[in-house]
Amino acid sequence: MQIHIYKTAAQIGQAAATLIAAQLLRKPDSILGLATGSSPIPTYQALIDMHKAGVLDFSKTISFNLDEYVGIDPEHVCSYHRFMQDNLFSQVNIKPENTHVPDGNAADIAASAKAYDEAIVNAGGIDLQLLGIGRNGHIGFNEPGEQFIYGCHEVELSQSTIEANTRFFDSEADVPRAAVSLGIGAIMEARQVLLIATGTDKAEAIRQAIVGDVSPLCQASILRTHPNVVFLLDESADSLLTK
Ligand code: GLP
Repeated sequence: MQIHIYKTAAQIGQAAATLIAAQLLRKPDSILGLATGSSPIPTYQALIDMHKAGVLDFSKTISFNLDEYVGIDPEHVCSYHRFMQDNLFSQVNIKPENTHVPDGNAADIAASAKAYDEAIVNAGGIDLQLLGIGRNGHIGFNEPGEQFIYGCHEVELSQSTIEANTRFFDSEADVPRAAVSLGIGAIMEARQVLLIATGTDKAEAIRQAIVGDVSPLCQASILRTHPNVVFLLDESADSLLTK
């Protein structure tokens, strides 16, 4: 496990984009596991800048996103399909057919989630998984609970997550109550994991993840058992570790 501390979110974005760029330069047809939320936005911006500068080519890259809300229109401004279009896919030369986001509108979500896991395995597994972290320690939408769930699955969102994500919607009532999330299995099988966290509201989750018990009550804590994980934190997210 490596932990790097930065002063700004922009620096974290540069660092994460540098690691992703190194992966893509070594293996242009890499399988990237991608995340949504505010944490990865500076990373995506730095990747877009490298692409526009002629440094990075995404034409062979394949991506699988972590999660999507259930029952949200993919064009909705708060859907993760739309987030990825706006914040990365439309601004680099990744092929639309090479991008994947879980289907929150599938008639049979369990079958669709199983097919999503199979598609990742058939593609060769994730080379590099980018993660944010929820205030309650969730990764993807794997919420605190009694177990680590291996496969892609439907999740009922916790009240804490609904409240945290209300800032993206008009009101709390508009936040979907369920999501489809990659399970802990595909995340842990990724060959490299990068987790980004900024701000004091992530400090307790980071403390639990890095020095607390490995427990499904903090889903990110399992990352400590991953052989190749890098935490990119700002000083606020690191504040309870340093103490
Ligand atoms: C959502 C996503 C997570 C993300 C988390 C933190 O719940 N499902 O993948 O890591 O939010 O988001 P933010 O980076 O905006 O704090």
